Amino acid sequence: MQVFDSPAEDTMSNTLVFFVNGRKVTEENVDPEWTLLTYLRKNLRLTGAKLGCGEGGCGACTVMLSRYDHERLITRHYSVNACLTPVASVHGLAVTTVEGIGSIKDGLHAVQDRLAKAHGSQCGFCTPGIVMSMYVLLRNKNLPSMDDIVQHLTGNLCRCTGYRAILDGFSSFTGDFSTRVCSAGVNCCRVKKGSRRPFQNVEARSHLTVYGTKENVENGKEVFIQNGCGNSMQNGSECIDQISHNKTILYSNRNVGEKWRHGNPLINHDDELKNAQNRDPNQSLIQNGGGTASQNGYEGYGCANQNGYDVVPNGRKKFNSEQRVTDQNGHGITDKKYGGNSHQNGHGMVQEGDGDIAQNGHENLVEKGYGYIKENRFKDVRSPYGENKSRLFTETNGNISNVSQKIIENSLKENVKMEGKSSNVISWTPYDPTQEIIFPPELKIMSKRLDRQMLEFQGKRVAYYRPVFFENLLDLKDRFPHAKIIVGNTEVGVEVAFKKQHYPILINPTRIPQFTASEVLESGVRVGAAVTLTELQGFLMQIVNSHPPHLTKNYSALLEMLKWFAGQQIRNTASIGGNIMTSSPVSDLNPIFVAAGVTLTFAKLGGKREVVMDEKFFTGYRTNTAQPNEVLTSIFIPHSKQDEFIRTYKQSRRRNDDIAIVNAAFKVEIHPETCVLSNMKLAFGGMAAKTLTTPRTMKELIGCKWDETLLEKGLDLLLEDLPLNASAPGGMVEYRRTLTLSFFFKFYLGVREWLTKRTPRLKTLLSPVDLSVDVGSDSHSGGYRGSSQRFSQGSGIKEDKYPVGQPFVHASAFKHTSGEAVYVDDMPHREDELHAALVVSSHANARILRIDETPVLKMEGVHAFFSAKDLPGDRNMMGCLLRDEEIFASQEAPCVGQVIGIVVADDQATARLAASKVSVLYESISSPIITIEDAISNKSWWGPWVILKGNLDEGFKQAEHILEGEMRMGGQEHFYMEPNAHIAVPKGEDGEMEIFTSSQVPTSTQMQVAKSLSVPANRIAVRIKRLGGAFGGKESRPLCISVPLALAASKLQRPVRITLDRQEDMLITAGRHPFLCRWKVGFTSEGRFTALQVNLYSNAGCAYDVSGPVMHKAMFSIDNAYMHENIQITGYVCKTHLPSNTAMRGFGAPQAAMFAEEIASQVATFLRTDPVLVRERNMYKSGNVTHINHTLEHCTIHRCWTQVIHQSKYNVRAMAVMEFNKENSYRKRGLSVTPAKCGVAFDRILNQAGALVQIYTDSSVLITHGGVEMGQGLHTKMIQVAANVLKVNPENIHISETATDKVPNTSPTAASISSDIYGMAIANACNELNRRLKPYVTLNAKGQWKDWIRAAYADRVSLSATGFYRIDEVTDYDFEKQSGQPFHYYTNGAAVTEVEIDCLTGDHTILRTDIVIDLGNSLNPAIDIGQVEGAFLQGAGLVTLEELRYSPEGSLLTRGPGAYKIPGFQDIPQEFHVSLLEGAPNPFAIYSSKAVGEPPLLLATSVFQAIKAAVGAARAEQNLSLVFRLDSPATAERIRMACRGHILEKLNKKMVSEATSTENPWSVTV
Ligand SMILES: Cc1cc2nc3c(=O)[nH]c(=O)nc-3n(C[C@H](O)[C@H](O)[C@H](O)COP(=O)(O)OP(=O)(O)OC[C@H]3O[C@@H](n4cnc5c(N)ncnc54)[C@H](O)[C@@H]3O)c2cc1C
Ligand code: FES
Ligand code: FES
Repeated sequence: MQVFDSPAEDTMSNTLVFFVNGRKVTEENVDPEWTLLTYLRKNLRLTGAKLGCGEGGCGACTVMLSRYDHERLITRHYSVNACLTPVASVHGLAVTTVEGIGSIKDGLHAVQDRLAKAHGSQCGFCTPGIVMSMYVLLRNKNLPSMDDIVQHLTGNLCRCTGYRAILDGFSSFTGDFSTRVCSAGVNCCRVKKGSRRPFQNVEARSHLTVYGTKENVENGKEVFIQNGCGNSMQNGSECIDQISHNKTILYSNRNVGEKWRHGNPLINHDDELKNAQNRDPNQSLIQNGGGTASQNGYEGYGCANQNGYDVVPNGRKKFNSEQRVTDQNGHGITDKKYGGNSHQNGHGMVQEGDGDIAQNGHENLVEKGYGYIKENRFKDVRSPYGENKSRLFTETNGNISNVSQKIIENSLKENVKMEGKSSNVISWTPYDPTQEIIFPPELKIMSKRLDRQMLEFQGKRVAYYRPVFFENLLDLKDRFPHAKIIVGNTEVGVEVAFKKQHYPILINPTRIPQFTASEVLESGVRVGAAVTLTELQGFLMQIVNSHPPHLTKNYSALLEMLKWFAGQQIRNTASIGGNIMTSSPVSDLNPIFVAAGVTLTFAKLGGKREVVMDEKFFTGYRTNTAQPNEVLTSIFIPHSKQDEFIRTYKQSRRRNDDIAIVNAAFKVEIHPETCVLSNMKLAFGGMAAKTLTTPRTMKELIGCKWDETLLEKGLDLLLEDLPLNASAPGGMVEYRRTLTLSFFFKFYLGVREWLTKRTPRLKTLLSPVDLSVDVGSDSHSGGYRGSSQRFSQGSGIKEDKYPVGQPFVHASAFKHTSGEAVYVDDMPHREDELHAALVVSSHANARILRIDETPVLKMEGVHAFFSAKDLPGDRNMMGCLLRDEEIFASQEAPCVGQVIGIVVADDQATARLAASKVSVLYESISSPIITIEDAISNKSWWGPWVILKGNLDEGFKQAEHILEGEMRMGGQEHFYMEPNAHIAVPKGEDGEMEIFTSSQVPTSTQMQVAKSLSVPANRIAVRIKRLGGAFGGKESRPLCISVPLALAASKLQRPVRITLDRQEDMLITAGRHPFLCRWKVGFTSEGRFTALQVNLYSNAGCAYDVSGPVMHKAMFSIDNAYMHENIQITGYVCKTHLPSNTAMRGFGAPQAAMFAEEIASQVATFLRTDPVLVRERNMYKSGNVTHINHTLEHCTIHRCWTQVIHQSKYNVRAMAVMEFNKENSYRKRGLSVTPAKCGVAFDRILNQAGALVQIYTDSSVLITHGGVEMGQGLHTKMIQVAANVLKVNPENIHISETATDKVPNTSPTAASISSDIYGMAIANACNELNRRLKPYVTLNAKGQWKDWIRAAYADRVSLSATGFYRIDEVTDYDFEKQSGQPFHYYTNGAAVTEVEIDCLTGDHTILRTDIVIDLGNSLNPAIDIGQVEGAFLQGAGLVTLEELRYSPEGSLLTRGPGAYKIPGFQDIPQEFHVSLLEGAPNPFAIYSSKAVGEPPLLLATSVFQAIKAAVGAARAEQNLSLVFRLDSPATAERIRMACRGHILEKLNKKMVSEATSTENPWSVTV
């Protein structure tokens, strides 16, 4: 029995007191409806934390809370989702935001610095949240493991990067980072006798960034740059899988032989490369990994890293105090005051202290202290180009001048010689846990008092109480029985924000000891109801570690489940009591509690009672037997018994941070000798409106022996006990029923294993099931094992192209990680600014009978409501091609989500509330057309368009075989992390207006706003600083939002702002088109295609938007990489009553590639031949003519293909996969290789670009161009281009924004083509400036940039120039004439992917992906590799996890990250290798580069085909047909159902006998 003292004061306070980033904040009577995020962003103007979803699902809002624990005298730090944390709940806590840990001005924290340098940010919107999650982990564990890191990041999403770079960056903080042995195994210098001692500090080799620079390697030499382990490599030996490619720079972050493999991040610098050039004539090894290296012919005794110089043969030198050494690798100075070891490749290391330093080519290492380097390289590198000026572009030099090529070359050579490296300065900020910011001392003193204060805050609509006495709480609950208890607010917060619940009274019990204490009792443990899940984890772990295992099985089961429960931030705040009391049917804990038989203690004024939690506790959907005036105070969990066995199961759509589709907890008690079942509890979630048990099954199995008879009986009984109606909410009826049986089957085998381990002789007794048979993974498995990134810039990028081709970090990377990057909603509020919210239709294909806004206009704070009546006639029409869309629905609502009106109010909350109260009366017109099939039967389409090449009939006649099939590919939500945000600011005269918008097409916003407001376009200036991702979703659809906003601002003549919440953004803006493909292919017995006929149908939704061009691109791309002599493609754009689908990364090509690969696979399967052969037989070669009459020049598909097959060891692994599949029945692997050819160009007219380059007299350069920076690194590349053409230091160049008043008539930033066209436009402008400067350069050849600028200015020469570029070769395709050239060139690639599936649950894991892609001479390999990885993972999401579900009435059911799952940290390939094809300059684009944004997405076909191969292996074992249909996405549901098996047979028989109706499904496939 615990005795609680009375720690509280009997004082009531209405003042909220907390600290933010060390500063005290006090707020009188704070509004309880405010979240911490709103408070930080609006009141404190701390906009680093972002609003990505508002429902705890994305982590963009992550901040750290710290609480001083007076009992234990320690400070507890934990991450939370600020979007769900009521600000009222942080009384007495310290809040740390991303701004609080570091800034560009005051110095970045190591987490911020390393993430930026690891290229871990693209659009940067997710980045502050990711930084904070990692930061909190480090505050709690300063040498975390990789598993810790992944676990702590499960609550964070990123849509851009593909996560690899983030993980590699953060791997530098891991405990084992400095001691791993590389793949050289025993030859690794770290394990060799006499080797240097292990590094004692990770910073000793913290060379994070990663990519290489120019390659200066002579013919025939090899250069490897390895990030893998930082250990020794001898010349010619290969660290990574013996990979060897001429002139290939290899970056590998892989470390073989350990569970977690990653490498030391690295730096590669020109000097090293140059050194490499000068060294051993055979091969050069450059290793940056960890600073221990063996050398050309020398063994690294210690930690030398030698590049081509044999000065330090043993890699170790002792230096005397004050000795100055200049013999390191040809460069640099080591200044060592106290002796020690110093090994340096290159430059300017200054060390004080005694220790080993391995340094790769960089300067300014400052060290004080013993044994290891604390401060490595750059103290403070904030510019992406580095601050150290002593390189190619020095401060004094200011530029490499020259307009005169000769001068350039000389100057360049001279600089390279002198400085030996580029300005791509990369190093780490060291991490020193002792230097972390401290808990505010004032708060430490105050917090005891603050913790004991009773709080009461009275808001406009909500009152908030925080009692500190148990009795007060009971009294409050008695007075207000319907008051909501809130602890973590993770459930209540979501209900309020998205289910429009209103709870007028909130009571927080977290300062009452009875609710937060946990104790161990003789027969179990008692846990306070307000104990958080993280606290519960810690507590249970202690018990498990300190008690005999037979007592702790219930706790272990809970711990297993908690691993898969939400993300870290949610676990840190969500309470055990909150989970129970929510009584969700998919609660992960309740099935375990029921199975374990926990007892709940409820209290109310005047008494308490105990309730055993069994099936009777739950009374319906989210209801239980608790009385309104009762509170749950604690949960008693019993110890387990010797003869008990308990297991839990959870299947969700995504591995992590996802609620269950079905979960279960099973417990049995079995006699150890007789194997007879004496007790059983089976509890299921996800099978009804509440947690269920299966009384009949349990009753009938008790008394049976645990053998196969019991198994079969159990399966049959479960089918009876767990029926599911065809229209059950959540859908997936068959799958869910299958899962219940699969879980039971797994449990059955698990129990057998346990029994036979306990009593080995039972092994024979319990046969016949073969116990060696695997049972599929009991829970999701995963874990990132490592990666490599390889590129070679070949001969194309010569020194005179510098800095083009350099792997600079993103120009905003440091702003991303410090939270200083400004997005639209981060912009300061103007004094008279108002807020808007949209009213959207809740019906599809409905007549609008009446809109009644009158009550809303009477609401306090509401200013106006605008609708179609305010935009008469054509002003209300929009559409990029057809103008067939109404901005405000006037008479009819074509879809759910159509904008009907806009409400303007003082603040966002009022505007949203008011919008929800505008009453609209609808009348159904007719049943809406929702699916493609509906549209086909109603002949509701645009088109069809036809492409015909050759003679189809003839082709089919030549065919030895003909196959026909159908495949569907679902749509995809863009899920850019920054929801739509726009601000319209009227200028007060001449109809002028400025619009700050998150659009990727500034000109369309400008033109449409001008048209709708009836002003000329020259009055509207659209400005875009950056976007938090777009992926095509911010092309045309934002007009639905920005035009109503502009109207409101114009009418009210006040600035108006709108930011959509995630759910409405997803509803209104729609996404990628779902496609249906009906195909018929003729082929020979060798697998050569003779004829292909394809009908493509896309679901366009209710408006045309860009659906025609999307279909056309699909038709142009249907060949993917294969030659077809006779082909006919017909494209139908189906018009339905869904929100209009739109552009999305790939623009029809991913669907086409998917179908092309499916057809190739089906042919191979039919012929029972290797799919590789069928693909190779039909693969394009240079000179082939495509079905749209495009002659392929410089076709590199085959090169990518052969290289990826070779590099991935495809053939060896294919054998291994076969072996694996032979040995495993319920887990199968699949391996596939697929090529991709992606056409690059806009429609003819859009292939044009403008730029403006301005030089100021202080010699700085400002560039504006028509492209929008949305994470793809466009501005960074453009700076590189301009720096090269002008020959100025890139640090001198700035890009501020994209603005229609600076560069007019912009094309969309889309189609992957922006670098091509804006690069050329900028080069054009820079060349013009060079031409004007030439006389001054010639006159003063020894002068500098600033001299020439001043001279030109003094001479009254214009220092600004516009640039323009257009692509002439591209023409629109004429379907009548069957002619045209819609593509400029193609980006090609190939990928090998291996997956493993669990045949019982449908879960999948991507084990490894290798990609080889041709990006010509990459403008920036770091950025390009980031694009490849990000696009690939987005594609992997498209073909596996991301499933949009619509109700039969056309309402999107999967809104927000809770319902729609994009890949998370644990969904990336466990091994991920990306290589850029070398030596393939592209003659068609700037600096011989190629477009990168979209093409890699097509390579995700390899994931789908690998899954299909694995499913095929499962089917082969059952002698089922291998020609089978699997639609995309290959969700767990689809994979499981396609695997079939005896469980499914059982279910099918049962369903036939039940005559289960298929009417009224919960969702339909559109
Ligand atoms: C992003 C996200 C992911 C999630 N993932 C999962 C998941 O994987 N698995 C899962 O099971 N759940 C999940 N949840 C649901 C949720 O986190 C849990 O149910 C959580 O345990 C609720 O705890 P809380 O303290 O936040 O509850 P609150 O939101 O504070 O309260 C929830 C309900 O419980 C009541 N309540 C709380 N404490 C008491 C008490 N002592 N006495 C009486 N009533 C009380 C409240 O009045 C309220 O009705 C997720 C939620 C989010 C937002
Ligand atoms: S905004 Fe808070 S988790 Fe997404
Ligand atoms: S960088 Fe992560 S969402 Fe854009």
